[in-house]
Amino acid sequence: MSLIETKNIVKNFKLGKVGVKILKGISLEVEKGEFVAIVGESGSGKSTLLNIIGGLMPPSSGEIEINGKKLIGLNENQLALFRRDNIGFIFQSYNLLPQLTALENVERPLIFSGIPKKTRKIMALNMIERVGLADRANHKPSELSGGQQQRVSIARALVNNPEIILADEPTGNLDSKTSTEILEILKELNVESKKTFVVVTHSKQVTEYADRVINMVDGFITSIDKNSI
Ligand SMILES: Nc1ncnc2c1ncn2[C@@H]1O[C@H](COP(=O)(O)OP(=O)(O)OP(=O)(O)O)[C@@H](O)[C@H]1O
Ligand SMILES: [Mg+2]
Repeated sequence: MSLIETKNIVKNFKLGKVGVKILKGISLEVEKGEFVAIVGESGSGKSTLLNIIGGLMPPSSGEIEINGKKLIGLNENQLALFRRDNIGFIFQSYNLLPQLTALENVERPLIFSGIPKKTRKIMALNMIERVGLADRANHKPSELSGGQQQRVSIARALVNNPEIILADEPTGNLDSKTSTEILEILKELNVESKKTFVVVTHSKQVTEYADRVINMVDGFITSIDKNSI
């Protein structure tokens, strides 16, 4: 049993009155501890697939099982709990709350988990240290660089200790030096903490960090390449 398994995932969106098929039968397996990159042209369905795997959006049909749990048929509450316990999300635009400090942003998922305030603070600080931002813990996002904001969002994604990290263009807004720093953090979490990564990207640099590269074209998977690294 793989950590992530999808069978024949189809996703239709309604555009006006017509239905458009965006995912055309995606079957995919990701093993625990893998670092998988998904590449493909803009509009090929990468983000849609990632959102479905993360339980943010239901497929129109198909099966999906993550960490032994079938997602089809779960209600919104059950999906929210599933995400909280299994998935960390990292986005291109960081998605931090601007009025909160870095530390408070990282603490937030722990509130949802019902962890007491003192413990929350210790856990959030630990994660902030882990991504090398201890000296910026009390800064607001607007007082941080893009790379620093992405570090905060990585800390936030990991603070609940999820098995799986889903990242959509995590280095899309960063220069290549900062991208390397972020990728090194992700790879370290992958190798040392055995976290499983599925990373959607346009960047050749990101694919070099991946164990496997999946290519999407127009709603299909066309090839899966084993990287030599
Ligand atoms: N909520 C929606 N309603 C209707 N169409 C949508 C919706 N979300 C995505 N689409 C369409 O689905 C297709 C795939 O979108 P998706 O965001 O998955 O592509 P992508 O591969 O992530 O592209 P990019 O590399 O530009 O981020 C696009 O044609 C898009 O217009
Ligand atoms: Mg996308």
